[in-house]
Amino acid sequence: MPAELTPVEKAKFVAAKKAVEFIEDGMRVGLGTGSTAAWMVRCLGERVRSEGLRITGVPTSSRTAALAREEGIKVVTLEEAQWLDLTIDGTDEFDPDLNLIKGGGGAHLQEKIVATASDQMIVIADAGKEVQHLGAFPLPIEVIPFGWMTTKALVEEMLASLDVLGRETTLRMNGEKPFVTDEGNRILDLHLGRIGNARQLALALNQVPGVVENGLFIDICDRVIIGYGDGRLEMRDLGTGAVARERVDFVEPANVFTDLGN
Ligand code: A5P
Repeated sequence: MPAELTPVEKAKFVAAKKAVEFIEDGMRVGLGTGSTAAWMVRCLGERVRSEGLRITGVPTSSRTAALAREEGIKVVTLEEAQWLDLTIDGTDEFDPDLNLIKGGGGAHLQEKIVATASDQMIVIADAGKEVQHLGAFPLPIEVIPFGWMTTKALVEEMLASLDVLGRETTLRMNGEKPFVTDEGNRILDLHLGRIGNARQLALALNQVPGVVENGLFIDICDRVIIGYGDGRLEMRDLGTGAVARERVDFVEPANVFTDLGN
C-alpha cells in the first residue's frame, strides 16, 4: 500500500477488502456509492480479474456504474437483477443497532432501494463513522425540484414536534448551483445534532409531500465491518451478536491503489 494514503483511507480499504470476501461466484451484488464503496468496487474488480469470479453488479449511482465498468464488473439494472444476494455500501454514521445515516454523497435514494432489495446488507466504515446516537452528520433528504421551498418549510414545521436537537435545513449546493441527484432531484440537509427517535423521524419525513426519500436506514444493515488505519478490522453481526476481529495484509497488487479521485 502506498505511503501517501491517509490512515482513514487505509481503514476504508481494510473494511472494503474484507467485505468482498463475502461475495461468492454467481452472486448478484448491490454496489454502494462513496469513497469507501469505491475501494470495495476496486477490490471486487481485482477478484473478478484474478479469480474469474462471475458476479452481476447493480450500482447505486452513475459514479459507481462507471467505476464498476472500468473494473470489468458486469453491470445490470435493478429491474434486470430483480433481487440481490448482497449489498455492500459505506455509511456516514452507524449506531449500536446498525441503523445508519447515508446520503453524504447524494445517492441514498438508489442506495436504499438497492439495499432493501437484497438478502443482506454489509456496511463498510472507518471507525470515525461509529456514533452512540445518530444525527451529528446532517441528515440528507431527497426532494423533487417542484415546490422544494414549500417542502423545506413543511419539513421544518414537522421537525418542531419531533425529538431532535437542531432544526436548520439547507439546500445542498454544487458550487453556485443546487446539487442534482441521479434522479434529477434536490437534496436538503437537516442539521439535527441528535436524533432521539430515528424510526419515528424516518417515517414522518417520508409523509411530507415532495420528499422522495430520507437518508435514515433503519433495520436494513445486517453487518458492519469497521476498518482501522493499521490494518485491524472488526466485524459485528446484528443477527447473532457475534464480533470478530482480524488484521488485513496490506500487500496488494498496485492497480487496486491507483487514485480513485472520489
Ligand atoms: C452516498 O450517498 C453515501 O450514502 C455514502 O455511502 C456515504 O456517504 C459514505 O461515503 P464515504 O464512504 O465517502 O464516507
